[in-house]
Amino acid sequence: MPAHRSAAGFAALLLALAASGDATAQTATIRQYQFAPRADGAAYEVVLKQVPRPSPTAHEVLVRIHATSINGGYDVEMRDRKPGGPGDLTGGIPFADGAGEVVALGTGVTRFKVGDRVVGIFMPRWIDGDRTAEGLSSSRGGNAGGMLSEFVVADEQSLVTFPKHLSYEEAATLPTSGVTAWVGLFKYGHVNTGDYVLLEGTGGVSTFGLVFAAAAGAKPIITSSSDAKLERARKLGAFGTVNYRADADWQKAVRALTGGTGVKQVLEVGGRGTLAKAFEALAFDGHVALIGTLSGFAEQLPTGPLFQAGAHLTAVYVGSRADFEAMNAFIAQHEIHPVIDRVFAFEQAPAAFELMAHGDYMGKIVVRVR
Ligand SMILES: NC(=O)c1ccc[n+]([C@@H]2O[C@H](COP(=O)([O-])OP(=O)(O)OC[C@H]3O[C@@H](n4cnc5c(N)ncnc54)[C@H](OP(=O)(O)O)[C@@H]3O)[C@@H](O)[C@H]2O)c1
Repeated sequence: MPAHRSAAGFAALLLALAASGDATAQTATIRQYQFAPRADGAAYEVVLKQVPRPSPTAHEVLVRIHATSINGGYDVEMRDRKPGGPGDLTGGIPFADGAGEVVALGTGVTRFKVGDRVVGIFMPRWIDGDRTAEGLSSSRGGNAGGMLSEFVVADEQSLVTFPKHLSYEEAATLPTSGVTAWVGLFKYGHVNTGDYVLLEGTGGVSTFGLVFAAAAGAKPIITSSSDAKLERARKLGAFGTVNYRADADWQKAVRALTGGTGVKQVLEVGGRGTLAKAFEALAFDGHVALIGTLSGFAEQLPTGPLFQAGAHLTAVYVGSRADFEAMNAFIAQHEIHPVIDRVFAFEQAPAAFELMAHGDYMGKIVVRVR
């Protein structure tokens, strides 16, 4: 974020805060989590700091963050990196995902007004079209663009509004897991009514995949290590469920649920432990969205079953702002609610990391900021 903040931006901020009538909002400092090296130097911890309240430059807005959400493969992975060297995260703000309310505008802002409810996009410089190196390098979290802060300034291009029926907590789950699932199913996957869709496990991406596929009239089949989560998945619209811990050949059970034809779509989040099995469950001309590595990187592609099925593969890396907006329209049309497991208070954010790293949950974990 630019260091210089304009006088006009600061004046606009004061006016908006005064209008909000919130005395605490006018204090000169705010609370913000930052990564700091742990005493043993082996990884980072997240520490709560008191920092100067930022103010927006011409094309930025000031957002009072209401809620954030955590992603295990991203935020926990950052926390657990060894500090030092190029890319050191010290001072970076955790969490790519956050939603809040616009409280002040830079002088040149045209996309938003004070009071708008907004959510950050995962890659602030991927607006539309194909991926670019510039866009991919702009992801939030572990830098000045992170969301685990009472206020953030953000380029107006890097935010979108969200459907009216969603709370701030729900909106905060959308930028990473929601967009990834939507892109995998509808931008690259072209899910049709009645298609069998395979979701692996009941984490953030897969539960979004479940509710999206169900809303589209597809037949989602979801796996889990927990019968209780599978029971909940059925209530959320799962057509079929398989416990992958109880049944090592879960792909055969998935295929049986389709009457033998196989699934048309897979959101492949498991990696090494699931990729080959996902191909075994695939229908002719099926599509696999390569997304995650929950059980490690799959170093080899199973080309035999891939040829046999005539499979289509797409490697997904979240999505652009245009993808986010298309997903929002779908969410609004179907009045979809994200699946949230736990909401932590701001002061408990380190516990959210612990639950994500070592705990048991279904769907998303949220940290409420306000
Ligand atoms: N490419 C991208 O753009 C992108 C975007 C977001 C995430 N990702 C990656 O996608 C993966 C999923 O992300 P997430 O946020 O959804 O994860 P998450 O919320 O942490 O998912 C955890 C759940 O995954 C299930 N799981 C774990 N190991 C599994 C296995 N071997 N087989 C089947 N299910 C397994 C478990 O479900 P049960 O408890 O039900 O067993 C677990 O509770 C991660 O690797 C993440 O880094 C990639």
